[in-house]
Amino acid sequence: MPRLIIVTGAGSGIGRATAERFAAHGDTVLLAGRRPDRLRATADGLRATVDGLKTPAGGLTASADGPTAPADGFRATADGHTAPAGGLRASADAATAPADGLRAPAEVPTAPPDGPDAASTRADVHCVAADLSQEAGALRLREHVEALGRPVDGVVCCAGAPAATAGDGGLKSVAAEWLDAYGSNVLTAVLTVEALTPLLADGASVVLYSSIAAYRGSAGSGAYGAAKSALHSYTHHLAARLGPRGVNVNAIAPGYVADTEFFGDRMTPARESLLIRQTALGRPGTPADVAGLAHFLCSPQGAYITSQILQVNGGSQHGV
Ligand SMILES: NC(=O)c1ccc[n+]([C@@H]2O[C@H](COP(=O)([O-])OP(=O)(O)OC[C@H]3O[C@@H](n4cnc5c(N)ncnc54)[C@H](OP(=O)(O)O)[C@@H]3O)[C@@H](O)[C@H]2O)c1
Repeated sequence: MPRLIIVTGAGSGIGRATAERFAAHGDTVLLAGRRPDRLRATADGLRATVDGLKTPAGGLTASADGPTAPADGFRATADGHTAPAGGLRASADAATAPADGLRAPAEVPTAPPDGPDAASTRADVHCVAADLSQEAGALRLREHVEALGRPVDGVVCCAGAPAATAGDGGLKSVAAEWLDAYGSNVLTAVLTVEALTPLLADGASVVLYSSIAAYRGSAGSGAYGAAKSALHSYTHHLAARLGPRGVNVNAIAPGYVADTEFFGDRMTPARESLLIRQTALGRPGTPADVAGLAHFLCSPQGAYITSQILQVNGGSQHGV
């Protein structure tokens, strides 16, 4: 039976590459993030590429979703997050309402026409649109996973974002900036993991995403690096807590990774050139560079690695 791997932030960048890596190795992946269109694009990409590779039963099928999303094939967020361009918006109580489109496992259209035995060997891709910085979003994710009716083998928390620095510099805007950074980078990971902990298989793996900014501070706003460093302590706490179940818990701290949406339009040529010069390898990281480590940590070869913060930065020097 394929493993079930949950990847947050899977609509772009490192999360998308991570989902691709696991799917290419025959795992069932559940993609989570706020924007349904981006998750759909990742799922479509997986189908286009992985179908041609050796998956256990040669197939990868996307699960459609409930009646709130007949055309999209996605669960809506439970917290009213507004999805762009044809996306979904659910009522605020969607996570607790039984008639909100949640389906029993038997209704999830992942069973192939050739019977239950084939179903157990077929890799699937599922999508859940949710704001994971909110309790309702994490509950939505858990409800979807519960509906799959099987334990979780890996949780890779890629969701994260730089701190929003717009503001007048007054204490109110400073507080908003730090709370935003904390929500995007700490709560997305903590709420996801805490929601899914009861569903983890013995011997499962958890991977969190820190940053080189946790070691050297973050340009623009100090809130981002500080938020990422909070995940280091949580990594150690969680490793100790879940160790008796054979679950390994680690954090990856990347340096500069290109081809993501992380920097938006904030990356200047001069800054990019500086970040590349700071590496020993003379190039930026790629999402695939980082995804490979997450995959390894979730493999049997990585099972004895736990409570570690692993840097993937091309030998980048410290110094903002
Ligand atoms: N790129 C780098 O140089 C770099 C360096 C060090 C660390 N990192 C870390 O690596 C991780 C992946 O980032 P990336 O570089 O791949 O950037 P990215 O392309 O912007 O991906 C981040 C993903 O997180 C999702 N996300 C953000 N807030 C969310 C929320 N509240 N709930 C659910 N999903 C949320 C975003 O999707 P939606 O907007 O659709 O929700 C997005 O797909 C992040 O944790 C980042 O901090 C990146």
